[in-house]
Amino acid sequence: MITGGAGFLGSHLCDRLLKEDADVLCVDNFFTGTKQNLRHLIGDPRFELIRHDVTFPLYVEVDQIYNLACPASPVHYQFDPVQTTKTSVHGAINMLGLARRVKARIFQASTSEVYGDPEVHPQQESYWGRVNTIGPRACYDEGKRCAETLFFDYYRQHNLDIKVARIFNTYGPRMHPNDGRVVSNFIVQALKGEDVTIYGDGQQTRSFCYVDDMIDGFIKLMATDNDFTGPVNLGNPGEFTMLELAEKVLQLVQGKSKLAFLALPTDDPRQRQPDITLAKSKLEWEPSVSLDDGLKETVSYFKKLLADQ
Ligand SMILES: NC(=O)c1ccc[n+]([C@@H]2O[C@H](COP(=O)([O-])OP(=O)(O)OC[C@H]3O[C@@H](n4cnc5c(N)ncnc54)[C@H](O)[C@@H]3O)[C@@H](O)[C@H]2O)c1
Repeated sequence: MITGGAGFLGSHLCDRLLKEDADVLCVDNFFTGTKQNLRHLIGDPRFELIRHDVTFPLYVEVDQIYNLACPASPVHYQFDPVQTTKTSVHGAINMLGLARRVKARIFQASTSEVYGDPEVHPQQESYWGRVNTIGPRACYDEGKRCAETLFFDYYRQHNLDIKVARIFNTYGPRMHPNDGRVVSNFIVQALKGEDVTIYGDGQQTRSFCYVDDMIDGFIKLMATDNDFTGPVNLGNPGEFTMLELAEKVLQLVQGKSKLAFLALPTDDPRQRQPDITLAKSKLEWEPSVSLDDGLKETVSYFKKLLADQ
C-alpha cells in the first residue's frame, strides 16, 4: 500500500512496485496528487486506487505500507497548515495502527526539513536539527518530526517493523507545475518565457536527486533486515547554487527568459546537503543520474504538459 500514491514520488513508486510484480493499493485524497499521474495504471489488475484521507483510520489487508501522504511544497502545505500537521501526525498514527494490526512493515517518507536551518553541513542523521516551532514552515517540519517520534515509539513500544527515510529535494517528471519548488518553478518560467525568479542572491545551495534514484533508495531501504530502522538520509550530495541551477535550465530551454531577484522568504534554509554515508553502507545505494540528464527528462515532461494544457 502506498499512501500519497497519486503524487509525484508516490506515482513513480506505484510504477516501480508493479514492475516488480507486487500488487499495489494506492491511497490518496487527491489534495496535490492527480489521477492523471496514474492514468496509465488504471485497468492493471494488480493496481487498486482508493480515495481516502489518511487522517481517518483505514482497514485493509496489506503486508507493506509506504506512508507518503503529505503535501510537500510550501505553497501546498501552508495552504491549510492545520490539515498539514494532521496529515503528518494523525496520518502516522492511523497508518502505524494499521501496520500493527496487520503486522506490516511500514516506511515513512520523512524529510530533510527535520534538520530545519542547520548549523552543521552536510547533515548526518545524528544531527537533531534547528527548527522554528512557530514559523510558517513548522506545520510541515514539526509534523514530520512528530511522525518520526511516533514511528520510533511504535518500534520501541510495539516492536513494529519501521523504515524511516529522510528525503532531500527530489525532482523529475510529474512534479506539480505550480508547487513553487525551485526546479519546477525555473523550468515552467523558462518554458513560458517569463523571468526566472531567484530568492535572495541565489548563492544558497541545494542538492537535487532525480526521482528514479530516490525510488531505488526507497526499495532498498524497504528490503533491509528488521534491525535497520533508519532514519537514513536519501538524496544527492551534489551541491548547486540556485544561480547555477537557473543557468542550466535556461541553457536547456533556450528561451528568452532573464533572471529576476526577489526577497528571501522567512526561515528559508541557506544550505542543504545530505550526508549519505549511512545509505551507502547500509543500502549500498547512491544516486547515479546527473543533474544535466535529470533536468533534460524533466524539461521534456513539462514541455509536453504545457503543450497539452
Ligand atoms: N519531493 C521531495 O523533494 C520531497 C522531499 C522531502 C520529503 N518528501 C516527502 O515525500 C512524500 C511525497 O512527496 P511528493 O513530492 O510526492 O509530494 P506530492 O504532493 O506530489 O504527494 C503527496 C501526496 O499525498 C496526498 N495527500 C496529501 N494529504 C493527504 C491526506 N490527508 N490523505 C491522503 N493523501 C494525502 C496528495 O494528494 C499527494 O498525492 C511527502 O510525504 C513528502 O513530505 C518529498
